[in-house]
Amino acid sequence: MEPATRQLIYVSRDPSAELNTRFHQRGWQVEVVGSARDVRRAVRAGMAAGGLLDLSSHFQPHEIAAFESCLTMPNVGWVAATMPGQLQDAALRRLVRDYCFDYVTVPYAGDRIVDSVGHAYGMISLGEPASNDGSQGAEGEMVGSCDAMLALFRSIRKVAMTDAPVFISGESGTGKELTAVAIHERSARRNAPFVPINCGAIPPHLLQSELFGYERGAFTGANQRKIGRVEAANGGTLFLDEIGDLPLESQASLLRFLQERKVERLGGHGAIDVDVRIISATHVDMTAAMIEGRFRSDLYHRLCVLQIDEPPLRARGKDIELLARHMLERFKKDASRRLRGFAPDAIAALHNYGWPGNVRELINRVRRAIVMSEGRAITARDLELAEYVEIVPVSLAQAREAAERQAIELALLRHRGRLGDAAQELGISRVTLYRLLCSHGMRHMEGEPLAAPHGGDLPASVPHL
Ligand SMILES: Nc1ncnc2c1ncn2[C@@H]1O[C@H](COP(=O)(O)OP(=O)(O)OP(=O)(O)O)[C@@H](O)[C@H]1O
Ligand SMILES: [Mg+2]
Repeated sequence: MEPATRQLIYVSRDPSAELNTRFHQRGWQVEVVGSARDVRRAVRAGMAAGGLLDLSSHFQPHEIAAFESCLTMPNVGWVAATMPGQLQDAALRRLVRDYCFDYVTVPYAGDRIVDSVGHAYGMISLGEPASNDGSQGAEGEMVGSCDAMLALFRSIRKVAMTDAPVFISGESGTGKELTAVAIHERSARRNAPFVPINCGAIPPHLLQSELFGYERGAFTGANQRKIGRVEAANGGTLFLDEIGDLPLESQASLLRFLQERKVERLGGHGAIDVDVRIISATHVDMTAAMIEGRFRSDLYHRLCVLQIDEPPLRARGKDIELLARHMLERFKKDASRRLRGFAPDAIAALHNYGWPGNVRELINRVRRAIVMSEGRAITARDLELAEYVEIVPVSLAQAREAAERQAIELALLRHRGRLGDAAQELGISRVTLYRLLCSHGMRHMEGEPLAAPHGGDLPASVPHL
């Protein structure tokens, strides 16, 4: 189904008022733009648009070259307008052949141009939206104020300033994708596309063509050229999500691309230069994957130049509450009554629970509680966490022991299980730390990247990135 108005990006140095009116009359909202930069500004993220590239309006060769990165935008269907004979020029011919659905020659006769753009728009609308796994809607805001999140925000700002590959690891639902988007949005590539690909969700035999594309007629059923995700990200960021699930066969092609920075569409006429920044993410233990031969270590070392670890929710102390309140604010319009906040038993349960599904699980529980709640405040029962409430009175000795245990857990978490560094931070010897780990029954945390502390009163100065 088509929306009432369709957007046309009309790229021209000398736009035709008559043509503009004709598009308007056929229900198009026309945006006239004159440069590649303006095209990126005019294209609305995730919304399909038609594009008319008026090559007859005497663009300079460097301007035409700059348009190339816009022509790979996944949500715009392009048609070129050319002067008779103009396609004798090899560079223009390649541009039109590789990126446009059609071309028309000026002067524009009848409504053929409008029909052609309509067709390009229709084809593009059949594609998938740029990024949609149902988890959007956070307005890109990353909430957090604990030490671990403040460190994460600092890392995001730092890595955004470079072009080096970033590898994001972390349990499921911790915010890996949100982090990747945040890096892109703070980088110099922010106006170019952010193209995600879920390496685990695409059947292995389709991955190759998803990544690198194909030409019309490359194989039976290839009725139309397909631009691969790598090429679609040209000028911007390619987000390789669930990279740990990438089949070995595709690992070889990806490695080749990272070495050569060129893609060749299946059945294509040659390699195309592509300039992308790579961010990858996974919840898979990559060290184990490499030892077991499921992941190539040469590829891993190319992807993991800069590393970011997402802290699990259970290690974020007071942020659990902060996030719960944030989500309540965001979704409380779904409630049938006015909600005042969380009851004390709900707060206790939020801290006692282990959150295996991390932030995504927290969002789901809060949203469900908003709808199910019958009182003025959300209770532990509404969150389906009633069994995590027990607030047992503690003796001073128990409180000391719990504090000691928590300090050790946090130090080990910060140093990714490295005993020497954690001991130094705690101001004790490695031997003492080892002894304490044994007495608390925490040997499993030694050398483990991320483990499970509870609670933790952490400073609440910066609530979000
Ligand atoms: N710090 C945060 N503040 C606000 N919302 C967050 C935060 N972290 C994660 N979210 C939200 O939690 C959900 C899960 O985040 P995201 O999809 O980025 O996680 P992920 O690590 O990629 O998960 P998975 O491994 O399951 O793919 C999203 O809806 C995201 O907006
Ligand atoms: Mg994800």
